[in-house]
Amino acid sequence: MENILVIGAAGQIGSELTIALRKIYGNEHVFATDIKDVPQDIKDTGPSAILDVMDDKRLIHFVIRHKITQIYHLAAVLSGNAEKLPLQAWHINMQSLLNILDLTKVVEDVHRVFWPSSIAVFGPTTPKQNTPQLTITEPSTVYGISKLAGERWCEYFNTRYNLDIRSIRYPGLISYKTEAGGGTTDYAVEIFYDAVRKKQYECFLKEDTALPMMFMQDAVEATIKLMQAPKENISVKSSYNVGGISFTPKQIADEIKKHISDFEIFYKPDFRQPIADSWPQSIDDSVAQKDWGLETKFDIKELTQVMLNGVREKFKKQ
Ligand code: SER
Repeated sequence: MENILVIGAAGQIGSELTIALRKIYGNEHVFATDIKDVPQDIKDTGPSAILDVMDDKRLIHFVIRHKITQIYHLAAVLSGNAEKLPLQAWHINMQSLLNILDLTKVVEDVHRVFWPSSIAVFGPTTPKQNTPQLTITEPSTVYGISKLAGERWCEYFNTRYNLDIRSIRYPGLISYKTEAGGGTTDYAVEIFYDAVRKKQYECFLKEDTALPMMFMQDAVEATIKLMQAPKENISVKSSYNVGGISFTPKQIADEIKKHISDFEIFYKPDFRQPIADSWPQSIDDSVAQKDWGLETKFDIKELTQVMLNGVREKFKKQ
């Protein structure tokens, strides 16, 4: 019997992953927590609580009281926001992970943890195309530095204490249920909202900025697949490359135009352009495919269709 704690259940990943986990492990066994209120469907279908992962004492009490066996720690300050308050972002991203790792070492019942890393661990000196699993990692953002340090801590705890911390380097994640906040890849979410709302979008990246992206359903399935894989299959003790698909703002705008013919896009690159320029354009995720069977189902065409429908439905309900 697994009891699962999701930290950051109100966020872009957490709000969808929690529901998927409840379908597998049973509603009562998946505890949704965040520092803010979780979405109504999560409140209605199972246990939820306000919990701050930075409060290590409350965290450990919560884990023991609810006999937690697996933790998904999804709370983080994303790349764009982190550049505005670098030291605070570093503190939040690192200390929250260290709280979880230390707790996992101490509380025996907790036998598996998921923590997301990012393509942000790569930097300007990394090969940009088909970026390998093992390559140069010299990130130039505070978010990337915190994710890279986090990966090293995960590997350290896995090896030194024989723990089972698993991780994915997510590409940009695209979804309509909960909007992302403060990331560089967020343009690929915002563009759908503005396309439906205003038939135009001002993009903060240049038209030819290619980045690796993934639709949320693929990301959730990948995460669960990784977490359910036998431990002996997990050869990467830090974090797995996961690439999904790659596209530029112009390519996604062209795809949207097939559905909304008078959609217009304007380009006004801001401080996030150099962040995007420092990241890979496409990712080699063959190790994840081989170790635990990573699959990507959504291409740019399907993703565009599902996003436009999803955003339209969301506006109808409001
Ligand atoms: N999507 C994230 C960001 O843009 C990258 O992990 O910050």
